[in-house]
Amino acid sequence: MDLVLMGLPGAGKGTQAEMIIDRYGIPHISTGDMFRAAMKEGTELGMQAKKFMDAGELVPDEVTIGIVRERLAKSDCNKGFLLDGFPRTVPQAEALDNILQEMDRSIDYVIHIDVDRNKLLARLTGRRICRNCGATYHMVFNRPQQDGACDKCGGELYQREDDNEDTVANRLEVNIAQQEPLLEYYSNNGVLQTIDGNRDIGVVFQDVDELIGSLSE
Ligand code: AP5
Ligand code: ZN
Repeated sequence: MDLVLMGLPGAGKGTQAEMIIDRYGIPHISTGDMFRAAMKEGTELGMQAKKFMDAGELVPDEVTIGIVRERLAKSDCNKGFLLDGFPRTVPQAEALDNILQEMDRSIDYVIHIDVDRNKLLARLTGRRICRNCGATYHMVFNRPQQDGACDKCGGELYQREDDNEDTVANRLEVNIAQQEPLLEYYSNNGVLQTIDGNRDIGVVFQDVDELIGSLSE
């Protein structure tokens, strides 16, 4: 199963991805996570990405496409993959099609988690993430049992640097501008599946699960 999760910042891609990989055991490939890991390690890639991410801008296509190409070549992707937050532009989508064609495979579904724009700011500014295992919480919508600690591993919860109000505003603007042509691209390719992401996390997952489950029937 070769899957893409798309949606505006805060739509719930990472949250749904955690549940999808738990159930289906395919690798989770998040370009945002890959850039953050590179930043933490202080690599050339991390330093390059940081200035764009801090400003809420997109990292240039050639950089982003390069890291995805390398990642998809790893053997754990043989059984499938879940791309999260890539592609985000039409040139990225075209590059992905080419990469997959070279591998003699193609996308099964692009799952678009569709959320009203006026909900996204609150989702992002209230988000907290576990420093240890990466699990995602929300101060209002998905509270940890104990304030400041991860339910799964007890790790410390922190706020992402780009989740402040100013950066969020620009992230939303930049991503909204890219989204329409991308949706059109995948709608024309016949792989687009839109799911209403305004509902509770578990309810959204029921629909996602039903969709992905239909692939293995
Ligand atoms: P990335 O890390 O991918 O961030 P993003 O796209 O802005 O998406 P988020 O991770 O913020 O949101 P999400 O949809 O995963 O939401 P989540 O599940 O956490 O990218 C960061 C940056 O890297 C970009 O700005 C860019 O600079 C760069 N980058 C990455 N990919 C790139 C690419 N392809 N090209 C160029 N640049 C790239 O949920 C959010 C919150 O809401 C959480 O607190 C969660 O608990 C809560 N929540 C989730 N679902 C629900 C629900 N149903 N109801 C209520 N609350 C919910
Ligand atoms: Zn944790």
